[in-house]
Parts: sequence; structure tokens; C-alpha cells
Amino acid sequence: MIPRVTATVNLSAVQHNLRQVRKLAPSSRVMAAVKADAYGHGAVPVARALDEAGVDTLAVACMEEAQELREAHLRAPIALLEGVLSPDEAALAAYEGLQVVVHAFWQIELLEAMPSGSNIAVWFKLDSGMHRLGFPLDAVPRLRQALARHPSWRFQGWITHLARADETGSSATIDQIAAFDRALAGVPGARSIANSAGLIAWPSARRDWVRPGLALYGASPLPGKTGAELGFQPALNLESRILAIRTYEAGEPIGYGASYVCPERMPIGVVTVGYADGLHRALPNGSPVIVRGRRAPLAGRVSMDMITVDLRGVADAQVGDPVLIFGEALPAEEVSERAGTIPYELFCGLTNRVRFRYLGGE
Ligand SMILES: Cc1ncc(COP(=O)(O)O)c(C=O)c1O
Repeated sequence: MIPRVTATVNLSAVQHNLRQVRKLAPSSRVMAAVKADAYGHGAVPVARALDEAGVDTLAVACMEEAQELREAHLRAPIALLEGVLSPDEAALAAYEGLQVVVHAFWQIELLEAMPSGSNIAVWFKLDSGMHRLGFPLDAVPRLRQALARHPSWRFQGWITHLARADETGSSATIDQIAAFDRALAGVPGARSIANSAGLIAWPSARRDWVRPGLALYGASPLPGKTGAELGFQPALNLESRILAIRTYEAGEPIGYGASYVCPERMPIGVVTVGYADGLHRALPNGSPVIVRGRRAPLAGRVSMDMITVDLRGVADAQVGDPVLIFGEALPAEEVSERAGTIPYELFCGLTNRVRFRYLGGE
């Protein structure tokens, strides 16, 4: 059977990207974000590759994601970025030896309700300006009291998350870092501030721990720059195939809504990828795919299973030819920008129709 759409994930690229993170932040330990199925790349294979390459901790959003990794028997500890949501989850986190990121007092109560002496690893998340999750900065003394009351809790450190680290011209990141530092002046414990954009663009955010996600997959969080330009290797190539090639006359419309009209007699290739595979319907005419090493622009709307492309620049194209949708030779940053979104959403949007293959790793 020939797969319609294949995502080939290069695990050696993921490992290279971890080394690149370590080069940028040589004194920091690395908590790798592998939530959301490792940003659509496949949680277990990616986590295993990072584990083999010596990552310090793996971070997931929730208990289901942690359990999937637990079953893979990895060496690295696993952190729950949203923490525990119920007494059952608190007990399970302790049983599984998970680290929990605690962001609210009701979560402290869940941990306090556990049998005394429960051995649970805890991070405290502070809200330094993102205003999504985290304790207010003036909660630090109360949090220290909670730690003092529970000597069996293994305190991992203080986390905050940056809201605008991708905006290199904004002072918001400096303000967040300063607020975090002020709140923790003289307070013991490791610090963790930087996501990918933080660790790439803001050296002062590289503290005891960095928490990259996107950069590990080889994409850039900074607008106008590709991951490759920053020394990262795109880890995922999304490929499809040409299913049909037809020649149409000048003036003939292509696809739903006739959003493209042939300006001259021309070959149109039909490629078997669509929004049901995760390709964004918002991709406009002119957005490229790659056929035989050359760019072929989209001609017509992205539909559920197919796209149509202008093959005038690839006259030798044949039915069955592979077509790169995004990857090394066509950055996900470019494709997502054309679709009005970000590489995160492009990656996470890949659906279970896509066939995954894994290469490399140790
Ligand atoms: C708390 C936290 N830390 C780190 C990350 C990794 O961010 P990025 O993929 O931008 O590096 C995320 C992702 O959203 C996050 O929520």
C-alpha cells in the first residue's frame, strides 16, 4: 500500500537540536517539551531519542501524556506542566514518580491531602506577566511555608513562562525576568524561565533550567528566521504524491470556488494531501510545495484530501512523484506563515491519516 501522506521524522535531527540547545545554554539543564505528542512528531520515539541523548527532564501537559511516556520506560524524569487536577492524579503522580508543576493553591491542597510523607517532586510556577497560569509573585513567602511544612516534597525549583520572548524588540521579556528575579531575591531553589524563544533570543533567561519545545523539532520561534538559520535541523518532512496531472486551457477554473483560473494552457498536478491530513485550508494560491527539487505553487483551494498545484515550472513531473509539503527544503515556518499561523499549529495539526516513519537516533 502506498501511503497518501508520510511524515518522516529524523530523530538524529532532534538529538542534534538538543545539542544545539546545550551549546546556547551550556550551564543549564534541559527540560524538553514533548507535550501534544511531541508537537505532532510522535511522543514516544521523540522522547526516547532525547532520553538517549541525555535530556535532563521531559515535560508533558497532562497525566495521559505522562502515562504514555511511562510505558516507554525512559530514564529521564517526567514533569507535568499543568500539574495534577484531582486527588487520584496526585496519588498517581506520586506513585509514578512524576514531577508536578504547581500553579495554584488548590493544587497545593491536593498534595497536602496525600498521606503524610508522600514523596512528590514539585515545581512552583510563578506568574511574572504571562497572566495565564502561575501564583502571583507575592505568594512566594506562602509557598516557602508550604515547602517548610512538607519536608518529604522534593522541591525542584521555580518556573515562570515568557509571553513575548519571540518579540526581540519588546521590553516585555526583560520586565518578566526582572519581576521573577525580584520576587525570588535571596530565595533558594533552581530557576527556569526560557522556552525556545527565550533561550535563543534572551541570554539572561538561560537559568538553571531551560524548557525548549519548538527548537527541538528544528523550527524557529522567531519571526523572519528559520530554525536552520539558527543552527537547528528541521526534524519532520511531510511528503505526499502526485495522483493526477491534467492540462487545462487559459480561463479554466481549478477546484472549489474557482479561486484559481488558469492564465494560459498549463499542467495542473493533483497531490494527495488536504486539510483532513492537517494542511491548513487557509494556505493561499501561490504557496509552494516542492516537486523534483523545484517549487510548484498552489493553484486552487486546499480541499479535504487534495491540493492542486501549478506544474509549469516542473514540466517533467510524473504521476507518482513525491511532493514535499514542508520540511528541510521548505521550512514549516514559511508554510505556516503563508497560512496565517505558526509552525506549532502546523505540526500539532497533523492528523492520524498521516503515516509516520522514524529515521536515525542512536
Ligand atoms: C510552560 C512551558 N514551558 C516551555 C514550553 C516550550 O515552549 P516552546 O515550544 O516555545 O519552546 C511550553 C510550550 O508551550 C510551555 O507551556
